Amino acid sequence: MKRVYNFSAGPSMLPEAVLKKAAEEILDYKGSGMSVMEMSHRSKVYQSIIGNAEQLLRKLMGIPETYHVLFLQGGASLQFSMVPINLMTNNKKADYINTGAFAKKAISDGKLFGTVNIAASSDDKNFSYIPKAFSFSPDADYVHITTNNTIEGTVFKKLPDTGSVPLVADMSSNILSEEMDVTKFGLIYAGAQKNIGPAGLTIVIVRNDLVGKHPEKTPPMLRYDIHAKDKSLYNTPACYSIYMAGLVFEHLDQIGGVKAIEKINKEKAKILYDTLDDSEFYKTAVEKEDRSIMNVTFTTPNEELDAKFVKEAEAVGLCSLKGHRSVGGMRASIYNAMPVEGVQKLAEFMKKFEVENK
Ligand SMILES: Cc1ncc(COP(=O)(O)O)c(C=O)c1O
Repeated sequence: MKRVYNFSAGPSMLPEAVLKKAAEEILDYKGSGMSVMEMSHRSKVYQSIIGNAEQLLRKLMGIPETYHVLFLQGGASLQFSMVPINLMTNNKKADYINTGAFAKKAISDGKLFGTVNIAASSDDKNFSYIPKAFSFSPDADYVHITTNNTIEGTVFKKLPDTGSVPLVADMSSNILSEEMDVTKFGLIYAGAQKNIGPAGLTIVIVRNDLVGKHPEKTPPMLRYDIHAKDKSLYNTPACYSIYMAGLVFEHLDQIGGVKAIEKINKEKAKILYDTLDDSEFYKTAVEKEDRSIMNVTFTTPNEELDAKFVKEAEAVGLCSLKGHRSVGGMRASIYNAMPVEGVQKLAEFMKKFEVENK
């Protein structure tokens, strides 16, 4: 069997222990005589799978009962619309902080439903930093941020203070990677395919008082209150992805939870950033203080060498290192499931490649 170190931005690596457990249970889930893939989402067995996944996520993130946890579909991208549909309903106005490609998509969808004020933007420097000053509107229905910018490799180290205006966060690429105080947010959403499990599942964590504010003719599938009331079983959910997410949560809990993985994630990121800082050959455009510990972006002196780097890395089992097509260069996505050894191997490869190509 061959397993590579997969640095893809998502879908990305899953913990090997989780994949093995899923393989063991694939034909007969706990004596049910069927695979979770074949099981009715209304069955007692499945109710315990989804219930258990929710309880574990609540435990891992410290999510109080004053928040709903929803297991939805449509990717983080559907939340670009569901958030304004459900929340931009009082003054029909929201503040957005523009920190990159996904923030821009959220902004563009937000504009379909009301007035969008750009409270700050790092567009002036190619999204290489996180803005520190904001012009918030006092009557905004919410403030939207992208906590970790997957393509650009930046992260909010300090959350903006939005006072009593709910803070909404696209946490797709750093949920569960470091400790976060959920009560600082009105709503958190994340596509599963980075730190949670297979694609097809989107997690929404929403403060109870923020649901039910949608316009009268909102389609049921787009209403948070319906999904909350039906415990994410209004329709057939992404059953298998939820089961896998539950296994990932269980695994994370067993290894010490978010606090433990945060320590490992910081170690992994330090290995790569130290390698970049010690080199004249590699460059990273990101401001030091805003560096993501999930997505490390860098370049060699030219595009030809970038392509050579990606190709040669792939040949030694360090895969999917090509940067996003909009920024070029390389990107190492080192989510929770990337082992420290994978990052060490990459750092060694980087040093060797530098010596050979300087
Ligand atoms: C920060 C962020 N937001 C949104 C998305 C879009 O997610 P999806 O493909 O689940 O719609 C991504 C995907 O990579 C992302 O990284």
